[in-house]
Amino acid sequence: MTDYREEFSSKIGLIVATIGSVVGLGNIWRFPYIVGKNGGAAFLIIYIILLVLIGIPLMMSEFIVGREGKSDAVNSYKKIAPKTKWYFSGVIGILAAFFTLTFYGVVAGWTIEYTRFSILNKFINNSSQQNTNMFLDFISHPIKPVITLFIAMSLAGITVSSGLQKGIEKVSRLIIPILVVLLIILNIYSLSLEGGKAGFEFLFKPDFSHLTWKSFLIALGHAFFSLSLGMGVMVTYGSYIPDRENLFHTAIKVSIADTLVAIMAGIAIFPAVFAFDIAPSSGFGLIFMSLPNVFSQMTGGYFFSIAFFSLLFLAALSSTISILESIVAYLMGNFNLNRKISTFIATSLTTLIGIVASLSNGPLKHIQLYGQSIFDFINNTSSNWLLTTSALLAVLFVGWNIDSNIIENQLTNNGTINKKYIVSLFKFIAKYIAPIGIILIFIFEVLL
Ligand code: PHE
Repeated sequence: MTDYREEFSSKIGLIVATIGSVVGLGNIWRFPYIVGKNGGAAFLIIYIILLVLIGIPLMMSEFIVGREGKSDAVNSYKKIAPKTKWYFSGVIGILAAFFTLTFYGVVAGWTIEYTRFSILNKFINNSSQQNTNMFLDFISHPIKPVITLFIAMSLAGITVSSGLQKGIEKVSRLIIPILVVLLIILNIYSLSLEGGKAGFEFLFKPDFSHLTWKSFLIALGHAFFSLSLGMGVMVTYGSYIPDRENLFHTAIKVSIADTLVAIMAGIAIFPAVFAFDIAPSSGFGLIFMSLPNVFSQMTGGYFFSIAFFSLLFLAALSSTISILESIVAYLMGNFNLNRKISTFIATSLTTLIGIVASLSNGPLKHIQLYGQSIFDFINNTSSNWLLTTSALLAVLFVGWNIDSNIIENQLTNNGTINKKYIVSLFKFIAKYIAPIGIILIFIFEVLL
């Protein structure tokens, strides 16, 4: 085997591809509704603290493993620590990626259908019950969501099989600017709504009475998901980061972008939600069931809805691509397969299981795994357990196992950048704060 490894072509290529991964359904679909359920600004503050204390150092840990190992999420560990079992972090991460992709692809498919609904002006004149039924009828349909899943996965597959620079980077360069422009337009529009001030306040005026211990858990879990951690993605992307790039700065920039997009998604959604008197805590369906009511009543709602759902689709697609890439890199690195064949295998398998997940919202609804539908079971197991375990092992590996020189060289690019205190602070967090934080989540997860 040669040591040749694909690399991001430039700083911009690295940043847009990584932002493409972190910005996704997590920011636009999940973040607003969990903020809504957990009391708005107070939750936002906790989220940001955990993101800085644990999320960013974890992203740096995964980058370090990837760039040092210069391989996929499993082999990178094997290269740095041969004959040890640390590579299990990667194995669990790939499993998490695999299962996450199966339901992520399904929801990415929903965004395609909702973009189509908006273009066809389907929300107009609907009562809120009709909008709710429209969503439930669609996700439980035996064929329609399977078709959109197939479309979403094919688009991701084509991109990944075209390679890092020609596929992933190119698509991200196209998607990210459109995404930013759409978000800004949606923000301006949303803020100009009469009655929207309440939504703005909800997002920025802290009310600590809604916070519970569980909110901390949800905040940290979401920080991992939103930063694409625990699925081998950042290890894999780390292996593509050229030696001259600054890992610390990259992690900071990407995390800031991720948080800004989440907040902007909140600004786009909450004023509209409040202006039209919808409960901000309506959860899962906030976007698919409640927002169409808003769109059908507001002036310019037609264009707003098209902009919103295409934004959601683009964000979902670029994240789908990165999860797929993590699995594809693993197949290439461990089974000696080329990129095209690896992509074909990974895409087909995840799509097949995705079909089962999708059907479990409809014809297979009666099948229950531990009291949940297949869709919810896959979603919960991968996000709550696999992802967190992989992340915990990654940070324990970096904090306790690898040679301290490796950390130093990776963070300072062999002594040329970054101050000593950043390295020391990072080591302290990787050794104590992050593992303890994650273990606490686990304990709460079991107890609460
Ligand atoms: N970060 C993505 C989002 O917020 C999801 C994701 C998780 C992507 C893990 C890659 C890996 O939607």
